[in-house]
Amino acid sequence: MKSKLLALLRSQEDRISGETLRYRLNTSRVTIWNHIQKLQSLGYQIEASGKGYRLVSSPDTPYPFEFPDREDQIHYYPSIDSTMATAKQMARNGCPHFSVVIAEEQTRGKGRLKRTWFSDPGGLYFTIVLRPEIPVTQVMRYPFAASVVLCRTIRNAAGIDATIKWPNDILFGERKLSGMLCEMEAETEQVSFVNIGIGINVNNDPTPREPRACSLRTILGHPVGRVSLLREFLDAFDMTIQRLHPEAIMEEWKSASATLGKRVRIVTPQQATEGKAIDIDSNGNLVIEQENHHLETVFYGDCFEIPTENAR
Ligand code: BTN
Repeated sequence: MKSKLLALLRSQEDRISGETLRYRLNTSRVTIWNHIQKLQSLGYQIEASGKGYRLVSSPDTPYPFEFPDREDQIHYYPSIDSTMATAKQMARNGCPHFSVVIAEEQTRGKGRLKRTWFSDPGGLYFTIVLRPEIPVTQVMRYPFAASVVLCRTIRNAAGIDATIKWPNDILFGERKLSGMLCEMEAETEQVSFVNIGIGINVNNDPTPREPRACSLRTILGHPVGRVSLLREFLDAFDMTIQRLHPEAIMEEWKSASATLGKRVRIVTPQQATEGKAIDIDSNGNLVIEQENHHLETVFYGDCFEIPTENAR
């Protein structure tokens, strides 16, 4: 009801009468009034008078009813510990494919390699539950598809030259705009669910705690619509994975890559590998050519670019 009511209010520059709304939504005036009041309490500025209703402004909050085509799949929380934890519980309880858990802020946002992901209001923090019928060996195709689609979405929405750092960070120049986390559970080699968690610095300012990060607002000098950004990303990602073409995804990843061709150091808790990043394979593993021309394939780790003057 709220999504239809908002669509009608947005279709009209001027006031729309309660009678028209009642007729178009096939409900009572009291029901309309209750929904208007609820929307007002959520931050929608709606002028109400004897002549009808006029939507003055919307809060740019990703409420489920802002996604009319997938409203039932969207779960929005003003504040939770981590969308990864909530999504994992929902997935274990059998939630449908492409359920999305969104938080306005996270009190225990998780980053890769057990780091903290600071999640102040103004960013976008969400986890998508996927249920592809694939073997475990193909899981990494999904975060790579997500990073390619996200990079494209950010480029289109903000008009900036975003790039992808291996494996799935989105950068602007050297600074991190977005990070991605992937968790999965499987039964006898078959995937039960793959959860993809994405944090995008949109209108927050991450720099006090993460000096090497940036946000779309700090880059552009003005806020960027989070609801439209998320809507565009979800629609494009949903379409991409309905007919996933891993080769095309990897080609697009390569052309947006900030890593290939660079000298890099890949660090894991166990070891560090240095060399020139020359390729990624179809599963997203990075191929490094070491000093002695030996090719090393790395599966995970932190990727640091080695400045050319220090390269050996
Ligand atoms: C990284 O680059 O270290 C990965 C960051 C992933 C952050 C997102 S925000 C939404 C989801 N919930 C979390 O707790 N983490 C991921």
